Amino acid sequence: MRVDLVAVDKVKEGEPLEVNPPDMPALVVYRIGEDFYVTDNKCTHGNAMLSDGFIEGNTIICPFHDGGFDIKTGMPTLAPCAIPIKIYQTVIEGGRICIET
Ligand code: FES
Repeated sequence: MRVDLVAVDKVKEGEPLEVNPPDMPALVVYRIGEDFYVTDNKCTHGNAMLSDGFIEGNTIICPFHDGGFDIKTGMPTLAPCAIPIKIYQTVIEGGRICIET
């Protein structure tokens, strides 16, 4: 199923954007160069929202304990994060960022 999230021009490089599509977990949209990525928003280490964190290169750094995940793969890259974050396949359609679920 394709889920429409947000317009491409709303997502700025270096600024993780929280989106809350109906009947889904809270998500974050990221821009790296001309590419867009989407992950779950809630950190797998605790009750923090990654949209409150910081982007360094391809890494989203959690605001609670400075753990991190690779935005492109969801793999944990900085301790104490150890469980991958869920990622979603993105599709750009008519200037909108969508995901396949
Ligand atoms: Fe995210 Fe601990 S809650 S690193």
